Amino acid sequence: MSDRLKGKVIFVTGAGSIGPGWGNGKAAAVQFAREGGKVFITDKNSDALEETKKIILDENNIVQSIPCDVTHAQSVKETVKKCMDSFGRIDVLHNNVGIIDPGGPEDLSEDQWDNLMKTNIKSMYLTCRHILPIMTKQGKGSIINISSIASTHSLGYSCISYSASKGAVNSFTRDIALNYGPKGVRCNSILPGLMNTPLIHSGNVTEVYGSTEEMVRQRDSLVPLGKMGDGFDVAHAAVFLASDESKHITGIELVIDGGITLKVK
Ligand SMILES: NC(=O)c1ccc[n+]([C@@H]2O[C@H](COP(=O)([O-])OP(=O)(O)OC[C@H]3O[C@@H](n4cnc5c(N)ncnc54)[C@H](O)[C@@H]3O)[C@@H](O)[C@H]2O)c1
Repeated sequence: MSDRLKGKVIFVTGAGSIGPGWGNGKAAAVQFAREGGKVFITDKNSDALEETKKIILDENNIVQSIPCDVTHAQSVKETVKKCMDSFGRIDVLHNNVGIIDPGGPEDLSEDQWDNLMKTNIKSMYLTCRHILPIMTKQGKGSIINISSIASTHSLGYSCISYSASKGAVNSFTRDIALNYGPKGVRCNSILPGLMNTPLIHSGNVTEVYGSTEEMVRQRDSLVPLGKMGDGFDVAHAAVFLASDESKHITGIELVIDGGITLKVK
């Protein structure tokens, strides 16, 4: 590896994976560490968090971990403080946590709607609320928010809360980019397309397609490059946005979708 992130302290939310294999957050955490970053990983699932930590330690890279539910304000505040106690600075905030709950307004209960919004967008407000003052004081920082092509295009089935939340992520990103650029803080979003990660095998997405085999077949067939992407496609893009190689890039929506969104303008 090339030490593209050497010495940078990187705070990652949702660094575990919802099931076996490589989720976007887990792949990003491991790749940040492979590139020389000092990675501070969090997740509400302690076992998933420990699994990612073990991978990083087994590769002789630097990691600290603390379980944290990013929808809880106090927990986020305390976790950010623990990161500062461990590493003394935060150079990169990787806001990865996100859930999907297919359906329209008549299908989703009020609780389902609130839970998704809290998880997908309020969590980013909470981490930024506590980490932006640190980055501003440093005069430098990079924030990466994981959005989705669902923010701009249809996924082929109704997932109104997910699409609305990811649209909010894009607007949230632009606002921070504009207002914190003069303070040295960059903020970009990544829009993954149809990715083959544990998230889509977790139940509620599989149900939309009928079976796992049918889900993989249909999703692969929609991608001009031939098949779904994976967690490391997102992770490699995140490394670029975290590194100084992207020092003149802020406020963008980086689409990683194998060409899906080329089909509809
Ligand atoms: N897989 C895809 O096809 C796809 C496509 C576009 C965007 N995305 C986005 O990628 C991101 C996550 O991908 P992933 O593969 O890492 O997902 P994942 O489901 O594997 O989730 C990663 C981790 O997030 C944790 N988590 C969930 N809610 C949390 C909370 N409230 N607090 C703390 N941790 C929490 C889970 O425990 C899990 O370990 C999401 O924002 C998702 O919307 C995925």
